[in-house]
Amino acid sequence: MVIAIDGPAGAGKSTVTRKLADRLGFSFLDTGAMYRAVTWAAISRDVAFTDDDALLQLANSIQIAFDGDRVFVDEEDVSEPIRTPEVTRNIFHVADHPGIRGRLVELQRQIAATGNFVCEGRDQGTVAFPDSFCKIYLNASPQYRAMRRVAQLEAAGQYVDYDEVVAAQNLRDERDSNREVGRLMRAEDAIEVNTDNQSIANVVDELERIARAKI
Ligand code: C5P
Repeated sequence: MVIAIDGPAGAGKSTVTRKLADRLGFSFLDTGAMYRAVTWAAISRDVAFTDDDALLQLANSIQIAFDGDRVFVDEEDVSEPIRTPEVTRNIFHVADHPGIRGRLVELQRQIAATGNFVCEGRDQGTVAFPDSFCKIYLNASPQYRAMRRVAQLEAAGQYVDYDEVVAAQNLRDERDSNREVGRLMRAEDAIEVNTDNQSIANVVDELERIARAKI
């Protein structure tokens, strides 16, 4: 069984979907970490983002694996390095690449076939798992999302300007919503949940209610 959860950056997806998976006894798949892993690998192995063929070759040759919350590329733990601003800034080169998206969607399906999963990303309900029995689109206003991002980065020791975060978020939204393949959009049969003004616990309760009604 796959529960597909999509939505823009900063809507609170990763926190609430992890908790939802725990409550249901499902595993959790952070598909954004896969795009981050390929981006990190390109930077650390000096593969030019302008070279589409080399990027695809890289994505096809590296081994991306998960162990709980940890992310590995060819057995190297990259859980922290994949979350740096440099990686985040460059992800679009990888996320816009139809060949790489195809490869990562294939990997997502392989992993999800091994058990019950809550899969989180941008295209889980639309592309990766269009037949999922439970699709949720987690949304929030741009202001809330930016505030969450600032708090998240501060918790990780990165101090950033709110306006800069808003500008970067607008750019990422624009790119995520307009790419040719796998663009961020609500699947027709997804239930939209808005997380503005809601505690994490409330959102998890609501998602659990939605999921249990369908299991
Ligand atoms: O979820 P996270 O913010 O870590 O994702 C990083 C980026 O990876 C997103 O901004 C998006 O461009 C890309 N992504 C994607 N498809 C997914 C998951 C993430 O294009 N399924």
